[in-house]
Amino acid sequence: MKILITGGAGYIGSHVVKALGKLGHDLVIYDNLSTGHRQAVTYGELVVGDLAEKSKLEALFEAKKFEAVLHFAGSIVVPESVAHPLKYYQNNTLNSHFLLSLCEKYKVKKFIFSSTAAVYGMPEDGLCTENSPLSPINPYGHSKLMTEQMLKDLAASSEFRFVALRYFNVSGADPEGQLGQSFPEATHLIKVACEAACAKRDHLKIYGTDYPTSDGSCVRDYIHVSDLAEAHVRALEYLERGGKSDILNCGYGHGFSVKEVVKLIKEVTGVDFKVIETDRRAGDPASLTAKVDRIHGILQWKPQFDDLKVIIRSAYEWEKKKPY
Ligand code: UFG
Repeated sequence: MKILITGGAGYIGSHVVKALGKLGHDLVIYDNLSTGHRQAVTYGELVVGDLAEKSKLEALFEAKKFEAVLHFAGSIVVPESVAHPLKYYQNNTLNSHFLLSLCEKYKVKKFIFSSTAAVYGMPEDGLCTENSPLSPINPYGHSKLMTEQMLKDLAASSEFRFVALRYFNVSGADPEGQLGQSFPEATHLIKVACEAACAKRDHLKIYGTDYPTSDGSCVRDYIHVSDLAEAHVRALEYLERGGKSDILNCGYGHGFSVKEVVKLIKEVTGVDFKVIETDRRAGDPASLTAKVDRIHGILQWKPQFDDLKVIIRSAYEWEKKKPY
């Protein structure tokens, strides 16, 4: 298939590019390289551009006749979205609107969207089914939820079909060591902890130890990035088979607390880095874990790396050698 991948030079996008490239798809990666890297594009043609550069993006649609779009480009840091909300509505909502308008105009009918567990806000028992109430507690979650709504409305009005994957906490790195997370000022827990283990940071802070969880720190469902990439491959195949539009959780279905993760990272790396317990971070829900029956049933997705130690080891290996 001829596929446009926005944000394909970024952390998650680059893993999906590799997975689809191996299958022989014809890929065009559109990325402004604000957080992505040229070296992370292992297949396809990279076009450097921003989604807000309307004429450039439209010219690409005109020229390439895409059959599907996978949309990764966006801003992803929850605390930053609290501090700079309009950046998130621009990059995540308005840019998605424009991209969808091009899909409509150029009759691209298959679309895969990177949504997020942040659409659930603060679920009562921390467990999210796709039908749980949607009530984001930060601008990041709102900006993504608005795009989900646009997708649903567009699909209802036309032959356009989509799969939105609600990612839980994506982590780890390509098991072949070719790709990984290279965000300049990373904020994600496993990444930050691996930097501390590599002495690239003096310490790790644990944000909040007074949450209503078993040990007081937040609980999250950590999923290996290569399993997430495989879920995209399955979602695309599903749409190709004529599958109807859907929104699916993408996690493993079990959570770990921040303290548990930190303990395991120290164990796996063998480095006893400094940890400081501090106040809660703005915008963090206490607990988020996915209910995953639907994605297993509908996409026949079979995770290969559902083991937090494996995730941590791959992230640490990447951090040690990080070529970019
Ligand atoms: N945390 C720390 N110290 C750090 C970094 C994080 O204690 O240095 C804690 C956070 O407070 C949070 C947990 O670790 O409780 C996970 O935080 P991350 O920043 O790694 O990830 P988030 O849960 O904030 O967000 C991620 C994605 C979102 C997605 C969300 C869904 O960035 O896109 O997971 O769970 F919505």
